[in-house]
Amino acid sequence: MEGRYRYWDDIQLVHNALPELDFSEIDASIELFGRRLKAPLVITGMTGGYPKAAQINANLARAAAEVGIAMGVGSERAAIVKGQYPESYSCVASYPVPLKIANLGAPQIIPQAPGERVIGPAEARAAMELIGADVLAVHLNFLQEMVQPEGDRRARGCLAQIGVLAREMPVLVKETGAGLSRDVAERLRGVGVRGFDVSGTGGTSFAAVEHYRAKAQGARREERLGKTFWDWGIPSPVSVVELAPLGLPVLASGGVRSGLDVARAIALGANAAGTAGGVLRAASTSYEATLAELEQILHELRVAMFLTGSRTVDELRRAPRVVTGESRAWLSR
Ligand SMILES: Cc1cc2nc3c(=O)[nH]c(=O)nc-3n(C[C@H](O)[C@H](O)[C@H](O)COP(=O)(O)O)c2cc1C
Repeated sequence: MEGRYRYWDDIQLVHNALPELDFSEIDASIELFGRRLKAPLVITGMTGGYPKAAQINANLARAAAEVGIAMGVGSERAAIVKGQYPESYSCVASYPVPLKIANLGAPQIIPQAPGERVIGPAEARAAMELIGADVLAVHLNFLQEMVQPEGDRRARGCLAQIGVLAREMPVLVKETGAGLSRDVAERLRGVGVRGFDVSGTGGTSFAAVEHYRAKAQGARREERLGKTFWDWGIPSPVSVVELAPLGLPVLASGGVRSGLDVARAIALGANAAGTAGGVLRAASTSYEATLAELEQILHELRVAMFLTGSRTVDELRRAPRVVTGESRAWLSR
Protein backbone atom coordinates (compact mmCIF):
# COMPACT_ATOMS: atom_id res chain seq x y z
CA MET A 1 0.00 0.00 0.00
CA GLU A 2 2.10 2.87 -1.32
CA GLY A 3 1.79 6.64 -1.44
CA ARG A 4 0.61 8.08 -4.75
CA TYR A 5 3.70 10.17 -5.55
CA ARG A 6 7.28 8.90 -5.81
CA TYR A 7 9.28 11.72 -4.25
CA TRP A 8 12.65 9.98 -4.76
CA ASP A 9 12.14 10.32 -8.53
CA ASP A 10 12.34 14.10 -7.98
CA ILE A 11 16.05 13.69 -7.14
CA GLN A 12 18.29 13.47 -10.21
CA LEU A 13 21.98 12.68 -9.87
CA VAL A 14 24.11 14.35 -12.52
CA HIS A 15 25.79 11.83 -14.82
CA ASN A 16 29.59 11.85 -14.84
CA ALA A 17 30.65 10.59 -18.28
CA LEU A 18 34.31 10.44 -17.21
CA PRO A 19 34.27 8.82 -13.75
CA GLU A 20 38.06 8.19 -13.73
CA LEU A 21 37.79 5.14 -11.49
CA ASP A 22 37.21 1.41 -11.99
CA PHE A 23 33.94 -0.17 -10.93
CA SER A 24 35.98 -2.62 -8.79
CA GLU A 25 37.33 0.31 -6.72
CA ILE A 26 33.88 1.30 -5.42
CA ASP A 27 33.75 1.11 -1.63
CA ALA A 28 30.22 1.52 -0.27
CA SER A 29 31.13 0.79 3.36
CA ILE A 30 30.20 3.19 6.16
CA GLU A 31 30.29 3.49 9.91
CA LEU A 32 26.92 3.89 11.65
CA PHE A 33 26.33 3.99 15.41
CA GLY A 34 29.89 2.74 15.89
CA ARG A 35 29.42 -0.27 13.61
CA ARG A 36 30.99 -0.99 10.24
CA LEU A 37 28.51 -1.77 7.45
CA LYS A 38 29.44 -2.95 3.96
CA ALA A 39 26.84 -0.57 2.50
CA PRO A 40 24.69 2.33 3.72
CA LEU A 41 21.48 0.33 3.96
CA VAL A 42 19.15 -0.59 6.81
CA ILE A 43 16.20 -2.96 6.70
CA THR A 44 13.85 -0.96 8.89
CA GLY A 45 11.63 -2.57 11.51
CA MET A 46 8.63 -4.51 10.29
CA THR A 47 7.65 -7.60 12.11
CA GLY A 48 7.59 -9.94 15.09
CA GLY A 49 5.08 -11.19 17.63
CA TYR A 50 3.31 -13.93 15.67
CA PRO A 51 4.45 -17.36 14.48
CA LYS A 52 5.14 -16.58 10.78
CA ALA A 53 7.22 -13.53 11.72
CA ALA A 54 10.05 -15.77 12.92
CA GLN A 55 10.72 -17.00 9.37
CA ILE A 56 10.48 -13.46 7.93
CA ASN A 57 12.89 -12.04 10.52
CA ALA A 58 15.26 -15.00 10.09
CA ASN A 59 15.28 -14.52 6.29
CA LEU A 60 15.99 -10.82 6.74
CA ALA A 61 18.69 -11.34 9.38
CA ARG A 62 20.52 -14.07 7.45
CA ALA A 63 20.51 -11.96 4.27
CA ALA A 64 21.47 -8.75 6.12
CA ALA A 65 24.41 -10.59 7.72
CA GLU A 66 25.45 -12.02 4.35
CA VAL A 67 25.62 -8.59 2.65
CA GLY A 68 26.80 -6.72 5.77
CA ILE A 69 23.96 -4.25 6.33
CA ALA A 70 21.86 -3.18 9.33
CA MET A 71 18.49 -4.52 10.36
CA GLY A 72 15.66 -3.61 12.71
CA VAL A 73 12.77 -5.71 13.97
CA GLY A 74 9.14 -4.62 14.28
CA SER A 75 7.60 -3.34 17.51
CA GLU A 76 8.60 -5.65 20.34
CA ARG A 77 5.59 -4.77 22.48
CA ALA A 78 4.03 -8.19 21.83
CA ALA A 79 7.02 -9.99 23.34
CA ILE A 80 7.94 -7.52 26.07
CA VAL A 81 4.49 -6.63 27.42
CA LYS A 82 2.43 -9.67 26.45
CA GLY A 83 5.11 -12.37 26.30
CA GLN A 84 3.98 -13.31 22.78
CA TYR A 85 6.37 -15.24 20.53
CA PRO A 86 9.69 -13.80 21.77
CA GLU A 87 11.46 -16.28 19.46
CA SER A 88 10.03 -14.41 16.44
CA TYR A 89 12.39 -11.56 17.41
CA SER A 90 15.23 -13.36 19.17
CA CYS A 91 15.97 -15.48 16.06
CA VAL A 92 17.71 -12.33 14.75
CA ALA A 93 20.32 -12.57 17.53
CA SER A 94 21.82 -15.73 16.09
CA TYR A 95 22.95 -14.04 12.84
CA PRO A 96 26.03 -11.79 12.65
CA VAL A 97 24.10 -8.71 11.50
CA PRO A 98 26.60 -5.85 11.94
CA LEU A 99 24.04 -3.40 13.42
CA LYS A 100 20.78 -4.51 15.04
CA ILE A 101 17.97 -2.13 15.95
CA ALA A 102 15.35 -2.90 18.60
CA ASN A 103 11.89 -1.31 18.24
CA LEU A 104 9.17 0.07 20.49
CA GLY A 105 6.29 2.47 19.83
CA ALA A 106 6.01 5.91 21.42
CA PRO A 107 2.30 5.38 22.28
CA GLN A 108 3.37 2.52 24.58
CA ILE A 109 5.83 4.56 26.65
CA ILE A 110 3.05 6.69 28.11
CA PRO A 111 -0.20 5.46 29.70
CA GLN A 112 -3.07 5.24 27.23
CA ALA A 113 -5.57 4.30 29.95
CA PRO A 114 -5.54 4.74 33.74
CA GLY A 115 -3.35 2.14 35.41
CA GLU A 116 -2.00 0.80 32.13
CA ARG A 117 1.45 -0.75 32.25
CA VAL A 118 3.86 1.39 30.27
CA ILE A 119 7.20 0.54 28.76
CA GLY A 120 10.05 2.07 30.77
CA PRO A 121 13.84 1.70 30.72
CA ALA A 122 13.78 -1.88 32.11
CA GLU A 123 11.41 -3.10 29.38
CA ALA A 124 13.30 -1.15 26.73
CA ARG A 125 16.53 -2.79 27.85
CA ALA A 126 14.82 -6.17 27.65
CA ALA A 127 13.73 -5.35 24.08
CA MET A 128 17.34 -4.62 23.17
CA GLU A 129 18.66 -7.76 24.86
CA LEU A 130 16.09 -9.94 23.13
CA ILE A 131 17.74 -9.35 19.76
CA GLY A 132 21.24 -8.31 20.90
CA ALA A 133 20.55 -4.76 19.69
CA ASP A 134 23.09 -1.95 19.41
CA VAL A 135 20.45 0.78 19.41
CA LEU A 136 16.74 1.19 20.22
CA ALA A 137 14.35 2.74 17.70
CA VAL A 138 11.31 4.44 19.18
CA HIS A 139 8.71 4.81 16.47
CA LEU A 140 6.19 7.63 16.07
CA ASN A 141 2.99 6.52 14.33
CA PHE A 142 0.23 8.91 15.30
CA LEU A 143 -1.17 9.06 11.76
CA GLN A 144 -1.69 5.30 11.91
CA GLU A 145 -3.16 5.48 15.41
CA MET A 146 -5.72 8.05 14.24
CA VAL A 147 -6.87 5.89 11.34
CA GLN A 148 -7.12 2.76 13.49
CA PRO A 149 -10.61 2.45 15.01
CA GLU A 150 -8.98 1.17 18.22
CA GLY A 151 -5.89 3.43 17.91
CA ASP A 152 -4.06 5.14 20.77
CA ARG A 153 -5.04 8.82 21.00
CA ARG A 154 -2.71 10.06 23.73
CA ALA A 155 0.58 11.67 22.74
CA ARG A 156 1.23 14.10 25.61
CA GLY A 157 4.41 13.26 27.49
CA CYS A 158 6.10 11.16 24.76
CA LEU A 159 9.00 13.59 24.33
CA ALA A 160 9.94 13.53 28.03
CA GLN A 161 9.65 9.74 28.15
CA ILE A 162 11.84 9.38 25.07
CA GLY A 163 14.34 11.52 27.00
CA VAL A 164 14.13 9.12 29.96
CA LEU A 165 14.97 6.18 27.68
CA ALA A 166 17.70 8.14 25.88
CA ARG A 167 19.50 8.75 29.18
CA GLU A 168 19.81 4.99 29.68
CA MET A 169 20.52 3.64 26.20
CA PRO A 170 21.24 4.77 22.64
CA VAL A 171 17.92 5.81 21.12
CA LEU A 172 17.06 6.71 17.58
CA VAL A 173 13.60 8.00 16.69
CA LYS A 174 11.84 6.93 13.54
CA GLU A 175 8.59 7.85 11.91
CA THR A 176 6.55 5.24 10.09
CA GLY A 177 5.75 6.90 6.78
CA ALA A 178 4.82 10.49 7.61
CA GLY A 179 8.29 12.05 8.05
CA LEU A 180 10.12 14.10 10.68
CA SER A 181 10.30 17.89 10.49
CA ARG A 182 13.33 19.85 11.60
CA ASP A 183 11.44 21.23 14.59
CA VAL A 184 10.54 17.74 15.83
CA ALA A 185 14.11 16.54 15.29
CA GLU A 186 15.53 19.49 17.22
CA ARG A 187 13.23 18.76 20.15
CA LEU A 188 14.29 15.12 20.09
CA ARG A 189 17.96 16.05 19.89
CA GLY A 190 17.35 18.27 22.93
CA VAL A 191 16.34 15.23 25.04
CA GLY A 192 19.36 13.19 24.02
CA VAL A 193 18.23 11.19 20.98
CA ARG A 194 21.26 9.92 19.01
CA GLY A 195 19.85 9.71 15.49
CA PHE A 196 16.82 9.75 13.23
CA ASP A 197 15.08 7.62 10.63
CA VAL A 198 12.91 10.05 8.69
CA SER A 199 10.52 7.43 7.27
CA GLY A 200 8.74 10.03 5.21
CA THR A 201 5.82 10.08 2.81
CA GLY A 202 6.01 8.37 -0.56
CA GLY A 203 6.45 4.72 0.39
CA THR A 204 4.31 2.51 2.59
CA SER A 205 1.22 4.50 3.63
CA PHE A 206 -0.19 3.43 6.97
CA ALA A 207 -3.24 5.58 6.31
CA ALA A 208 -3.81 3.31 3.30
CA VAL A 209 -3.13 0.11 5.27
CA GLU A 210 -5.57 1.19 7.98
CA HIS A 211 -8.13 2.35 5.39
CA TYR A 212 -8.44 -1.25 4.20
CA ARG A 213 -8.46 -2.65 7.74
CA ALA A 214 -11.18 -0.19 8.75
CA LYS A 215 -13.16 -1.14 5.63
CA ALA A 216 -12.95 -4.81 6.56
CA GLN A 217 -14.15 -4.00 10.08
CA GLY A 218 -17.02 -1.82 8.84
CA ALA A 219 -15.54 1.25 10.58
CA ARG A 220 -16.88 3.86 8.13
CA ARG A 221 -15.35 6.97 9.72
CA GLU A 222 -11.81 5.51 9.77
CA GLU A 223 -12.25 4.00 6.31
CA ARG A 224 -12.85 7.50 4.95
CA LEU A 225 -10.15 9.03 7.13
CA GLY A 226 -7.56 6.65 5.66
CA LYS A 227 -8.47 7.76 2.16
CA THR A 228 -8.38 11.44 3.08
CA PHE A 229 -4.96 11.18 4.77
CA TRP A 230 -3.48 8.58 2.37
CA ASP A 231 -0.61 10.88 1.33
CA TRP A 232 -0.32 12.90 4.54
CA GLY A 233 3.15 13.77 5.72
CA ILE A 234 6.55 15.15 4.87
CA PRO A 235 8.16 13.70 1.74
CA SER A 236 11.17 11.53 2.61
CA PRO A 237 13.75 13.54 0.59
CA VAL A 238 12.50 16.80 2.13
CA SER A 239 12.83 15.38 5.62
CA VAL A 240 16.41 14.29 4.86
CA VAL A 241 17.38 17.78 3.66
CA GLU A 242 15.84 19.33 6.80
CA LEU A 243 17.57 16.96 9.24
CA ALA A 244 21.01 16.54 7.64
CA PRO A 245 22.46 19.78 9.11
CA LEU A 246 21.61 18.74 12.70
CA GLY A 247 24.83 16.76 13.09
CA LEU A 248 23.27 13.40 14.08
CA PRO A 249 23.01 10.28 11.89
CA VAL A 250 20.05 10.47 9.51
CA LEU A 251 18.54 7.36 7.95
CA ALA A 252 16.44 7.98 4.88
CA SER A 253 13.44 5.69 4.59
CA GLY A 254 9.96 5.91 3.16
CA GLY A 255 9.70 4.77 -0.45
CA VAL A 256 13.30 3.60 -0.97
CA ARG A 257 12.88 0.86 -3.55
CA SER A 258 16.17 0.69 -5.47
CA GLY A 259 19.88 1.28 -5.12
CA LEU A 260 19.40 4.46 -7.11
CA ASP A 261 17.02 5.69 -4.38
CA VAL A 262 19.72 4.86 -1.79
CA ALA A 263 22.25 6.91 -3.78
CA ARG A 264 19.78 9.80 -4.07
CA ALA A 265 19.27 9.77 -0.29
CA ILE A 266 23.02 9.84 0.38
CA ALA A 267 23.51 12.70 -2.11
CA LEU A 268 20.91 14.69 -0.15
CA GLY A 269 22.90 14.24 3.06
CA ALA A 270 21.60 11.02 4.62
CA ASN A 271 24.10 8.73 6.36
CA ALA A 272 22.27 5.64 5.15
CA ALA A 273 18.95 4.67 3.58
CA GLY A 274 16.34 2.29 4.88
CA THR A 275 13.69 0.13 3.32
CA ALA A 276 10.83 -1.95 4.68
CA GLY A 277 8.22 -2.30 1.94
CA GLY A 278 11.02 -2.87 -0.58
CA VAL A 279 12.02 -6.23 0.93
CA LEU A 280 8.79 -7.41 2.55
CA ARG A 281 7.61 -9.61 -0.31
CA ALA A 282 11.03 -11.25 -0.74
CA ALA A 283 11.35 -11.82 3.02
CA SER A 284 7.93 -13.45 3.08
CA THR A 285 9.06 -15.78 0.27
CA SER A 286 12.52 -17.14 1.18
CA TYR A 287 16.06 -16.37 2.27
CA GLU A 288 17.23 -16.73 -1.35
CA ALA A 289 14.66 -14.18 -2.59
CA THR A 290 15.64 -11.76 0.20
CA LEU A 291 19.34 -12.09 -0.58
CA ALA A 292 18.68 -11.58 -4.31
CA GLU A 293 16.64 -8.42 -3.62
CA LEU A 294 19.31 -6.94 -1.36
CA GLU A 295 22.10 -7.81 -3.82
CA GLN A 296 20.16 -6.10 -6.61
CA ILE A 297 19.69 -2.94 -4.51
CA LEU A 298 23.37 -2.87 -3.52
CA HIS A 299 24.53 -3.45 -7.10
CA GLU A 300 22.35 -0.56 -8.26
CA LEU A 301 23.85 1.63 -5.54
CA ARG A 302 27.38 0.82 -6.72
CA VAL A 303 26.39 1.53 -10.34
CA ALA A 304 25.02 4.94 -9.26
CA MET A 305 28.28 5.58 -7.38
CA PHE A 306 30.31 4.66 -10.47
CA LEU A 307 28.22 6.83 -12.80
CA THR A 308 28.60 9.84 -10.50
CA GLY A 309 32.35 9.23 -10.14
CA SER A 310 31.97 8.55 -6.41
CA ARG A 311 34.49 6.00 -5.12
CA THR A 312 33.25 6.24 -1.54
CA VAL A 313 29.99 7.09 0.23
CA ASP A 314 31.56 10.37 1.38
CA GLU A 315 32.20 11.28 -2.25
CA LEU A 316 28.62 10.31 -3.15
CA ARG A 317 27.43 12.72 -0.45
CA ARG A 318 29.05 15.53 -2.46
CA ALA A 319 27.77 14.37 -5.86
CA PRO A 320 25.95 17.02 -7.86
CA ARG A 321 22.19 16.57 -7.90
CA VAL A 322 19.08 18.36 -9.07
CA VAL A 323 15.82 18.52 -7.13
CA THR A 324 12.67 18.72 -9.24
CA GLY A 325 8.90 18.36 -8.95
CA GLU A 326 6.95 18.32 -5.69
CA SER A 327 10.10 17.94 -3.58
CA ARG A 328 11.49 21.13 -5.05
CA ALA A 329 8.24 22.95 -4.25
CA TRP A 330 8.45 21.73 -0.64
CA LEU A 331 12.07 22.80 -0.26
CA SER A 332 11.47 26.29 -1.63
CA ARG A 333 8.62 27.01 0.79
C1 LIG B 1 4.46 -4.59 7.18
C2 LIG B 1 5.11 -3.43 7.87
C3 LIG B 1 5.18 -3.40 9.26
C4 LIG B 1 5.81 -2.34 9.92
N1 LIG B 1 5.93 -2.37 11.28
C5 LIG B 1 6.68 -1.41 11.89
C6 LIG B 1 6.96 -1.49 13.29
O1 LIG B 1 6.51 -2.41 13.99
N2 LIG B 1 7.74 -0.53 13.84
C7 LIG B 1 8.26 0.50 13.09
O2 LIG B 1 8.99 1.33 13.62
N3 LIG B 1 7.97 0.61 11.79
C8 LIG B 1 7.23 -0.32 11.17
N4 LIG B 1 7.00 -0.23 9.83
C9 LIG B 1 7.43 0.99 9.12
C10 LIG B 1 8.73 0.83 8.36
O3 LIG B 1 9.82 0.58 9.23
C11 LIG B 1 9.04 2.10 7.54
O4 LIG B 1 9.29 3.16 8.43
C12 LIG B 1 7.90 2.49 6.61
O5 LIG B 1 7.25 1.33 6.10
C13 LIG B 1 8.39 3.29 5.42
O6 LIG B 1 9.33 2.59 4.65
P1 LIG B 1 8.94 1.82 3.29
O7 LIG B 1 8.26 2.82 2.38
O8 LIG B 1 10.24 1.32 2.74
O9 LIG B 1 8.02 0.69 3.65
C14 LIG B 1 6.38 -1.28 9.16
C15 LIG B 1 6.29 -1.33 7.77
C16 LIG B 1 5.67 -2.37 7.11
C17 LIG B 1 5.62 -2.37 5.60
